[in-house]
Amino acid sequence: MAKIKTKFAERLNIDVPILGFSHSVDVTAAITKAGGMGVYGIAHDPPDKVPGKIAAVRKQIGDRPFAIDIMMPKGMPESETLKSVQANLPADHVKFVESLIEKYQVPVATNKTFFNSVLRTPSYFEGQLQALLDSDVDLVAFGIGLTADAVARLKAKGKVVGALIGNPRHFASYKDVGLDFIVAQGSEAGAHTGSIGTMVLVPEIVQLAGDLPVLAAGGIGHGSQIAAALAMGAQGVWLGTTWLSTEEHASGDHAIGDKLREKLFATGSGDTAITHGSSGKPQRQIRSAWTEEWAAPTAPRALPMPYQHALVGDLLTAIDEHEVDAMLHSPAGQSIAWSRTKRSVAEVMEELSRDALAGLSRAGQYSD
Ligand SMILES: Cc1cc2nc3c(=O)[nH]c(=O)nc-3n(C[C@H](O)[C@H](O)[C@H](O)COP(=O)(O)O)c2cc1C
Repeated sequence: MAKIKTKFAERLNIDVPILGFSHSVDVTAAITKAGGMGVYGIAHDPPDKVPGKIAAVRKQIGDRPFAIDIMMPKGMPESETLKSVQANLPADHVKFVESLIEKYQVPVATNKTFFNSVLRTPSYFEGQLQALLDSDVDLVAFGIGLTADAVARLKAKGKVVGALIGNPRHFASYKDVGLDFIVAQGSEAGAHTGSIGTMVLVPEIVQLAGDLPVLAAGGIGHGSQIAAALAMGAQGVWLGTTWLSTEEHASGDHAIGDKLREKLFATGSGDTAITHGSSGKPQRQIRSAWTEEWAAPTAPRALPMPYQHALVGDLLTAIDEHEVDAMLHSPAGQSIAWSRTKRSVAEVMEELSRDALAGLSRAGQYSD
């Protein structure tokens, strides 16, 4: 595969400046093996499971580089448990969730998942962080939230450390904590997201960041957009939605089943919606009865993170477990429009790189 050189790609020792986020071990490994850098998201893995996940990626990639993404949102309660929170949920909210179960005839969940068995707390995050400090992972990125102490501890262990941001305010609060790179993630992105579009955000953050490398994220699913991101001053891209429909995502933990994949194939760039209904923070997903119900005027206002999870965790687990058609959904961004067939990660990487190079050469025609 042709190489696309940027300073940051050279620092990471990767052939193409494509970093790929996934909750799948196999997808993460495949992205690294195809010349980019796989980023495994541990948000749903309790601390004791993290070393096993890292070892599983390492087993597939040898000593090639890969990354971990960790979320450390501020304001999570230390003294509560999932049970104590569930015992005190507001009655109107519980009634609303019961009405959804009734309306969509959702069978009871029997699986235990992150959604119905974990409450996000500072000690959960500290346990995950400790697992990263003890690991041989090359790069760590903070999804939502970080502390200067966590950044310093990771850097002392020789990790390359970065963070995702969605607006210039985040940059102002992160600029002095010693990060090695920034991911500027525009609103088009899948999962938690802000309101500024990628085309607006990226050059703004590039300018603010000065010498600090910036990766562009949000809505990127075609190689021409990679060329555009590089033209805007980014040193690479960070993609999440693109991998959901790949062959490697069809098995293992967080496998995407045939029914959900068919929905992803049928989702156009205009068919996603932002809801607070899943986590309490704004999250872009494919539009479904789930997003519609939480947007209805009669719906209660979603609770803040982590309380919304405690409210809907069983229902989310049941929707996935029983593939409840109308409510079945996934976080996904507007670039889902480029996912129309089940392909291997290597094929996707090949096409992205080829189209990025074509875009770069097209752009070069305009200067003499
Ligand atoms: C299914 C899914 C789950 C995600 N989970 C996380 C997460 O746990 N932590 C995080 O920092 N970002 C998460 N993201 C966001 C990605 O890291 C990335 O910023 C985003 O997908 C880029 O935009 P795109 O979806 O348009 O490619 C997730 C994205 C998707 C599609």
